[in-house]
Amino acid sequence: MKTRSPIVSVLGHVDHGKTTLLDNIRGSTIAAKEAGGITQHIGATEIPMDVISSICGEFLERMSINEKLPGLFFIDTPGHEAFTTLRKRGGSLADLAILILDVNEGFKPQTYEALNILKSSKTPFVVAANKIDKIPGWKSVENASFTESMKQQDSDIVFKLDQKLYEIVGTLHEEGFESERFDRISNFASQITIVPISAMSGEGLTELLTMLLGLAYQYLREQLQIEENSPAEGTVLEVKEEKGLGLTIDTIIYDGLLNKDDRIMMLTKDNKVISTKIRSLLKPKPLEEIRESKTMFENTDEIVAAAGVKIVAPHVDDVVAGSPLKVANANDEKVEDELLSEVDNIRIQTNDIGIIVKADTLGSLEALVNILDQKDIPIKSAEIGDISRRDIINASIMYEEDKKYGVVVGFNVNILPSAEEELNNQEIKVFQDKVIYQLTEDYLDWVNTAKE
Ligand code: GTP
Ligand code: MG
Ligand code: NA
Repeated sequence: MKTRSPIVSVLGHVDHGKTTLLDNIRGSTIAAKEAGGITQHIGATEIPMDVISSICGEFLERMSINEKLPGLFFIDTPGHEAFTTLRKRGGSLADLAILILDVNEGFKPQTYEALNILKSSKTPFVVAANKIDKIPGWKSVENASFTESMKQQDSDIVFKLDQKLYEIVGTLHEEGFESERFDRISNFASQITIVPISAMSGEGLTELLTMLLGLAYQYLREQLQIEENSPAEGTVLEVKEEKGLGLTIDTIIYDGLLNKDDRIMMLTKDNKVISTKIRSLLKPKPLEEIRESKTMFENTDEIVAAAGVKIVAPHVDDVVAGSPLKVANANDEKVEDELLSEVDNIRIQTNDIGIIVKADTLGSLEALVNILDQKDIPIKSAEIGDISRRDIINASIMYEEDKKYGVVVGFNVNILPSAEEELNNQEIKVFQDKVIYQLTEDYLDWVNTAKE
């Protein structure tokens, strides 16, 4: 038996501070570098136990939490409304969650959505009431525990904070949860813990992480035990060219063990199943997001969930980002069926006449289609991958029907050279952007300008 790291998903409304919270814990600045200031994919970082312990300090001892966990494996999710599937995926992978909200704004649509995901998956969670430093008059004490920071605040500010917290308690009550500020809880089994924090200044992170570990010990003891021979299950984040290695796949392994000798199965862009033998397993350094990792990866023979791992293997050219990953066994057909059923619910509705849509991953394609649907923009086809010559030709067929549909919209993708060439002979308009909502805005602006 081995103990795996609990998976902790961070969920909440757009810009309420999910990425900033993780940045503060791991000492990074990812939020500041994101296109459009929003998260548009699932992120994953392993935080070793010694880092957690050093933030929690004496609080852990006071709670007499001294059992060993390897660490916490955090999943960052997008808060922008379009990314419903990635939030659901993040929520359903989670053993525990942090539901984060801006204490000054309270519950917002995706806070409710996230709460409902946690409700239906029965995931234990703590509520982080973030941005306390923005309460007018708050005196920030860098990296202090909430308990320490409170001592520095004027009584009217503490009162103001409590008013905001009781609004949250009231909303949670309406949603079927009893809750209380962490230091006033009488019954940890029946009340949801609220921890006031500032992801920016680090205030309250001590208590937030301590409460999270408390939940882990209360609910997860058995769930975290994995058998020596339990096969890995994971999800593909990205297929990526890596100097000296060729095509590699960045994955999250959320359950079981992955061995260097394993054969793994995944889905391709056109919904076929491929099977390939692992050549090597490369682990990012702890505290680094696998996608952002610039340093050398470490070679390893075995991966214990939950972990991010880069896999080097042949024949992964057509693997689709967002695909589930399973270890093959004696019964390939069964594994194949399981893989296909996992993506069965991602079906995209298309029209006879409409625009051509391309995106880089399953999750982002679905998010883009969501936004286009909301704006009643019809879609002829929606696929993963770079913009190809065929896309331009298909758009030109649409152009014959209606000029405003002679369009290709691409999120986080490139235009292939053959497509560039084809574009020279066509009236087709291509919209590309790295910020998802910008694409629909640009397209609609263009349609309106063309009308005038
Ligand atoms: P999405 O991933 O796009 O849903 O957003 P997010 O929830 O990850 O929020 P993000 O970390 O990107 O933060 C949004 C903005 O709020 C950024 O400008 C942060 O600097 C700011 N912010 C986050 N936490 C705090 C905080 O505790 N205090 C203050 N003052 N600003 C914060
Ligand atoms: Mg974010
Ligand atoms: Na953001």
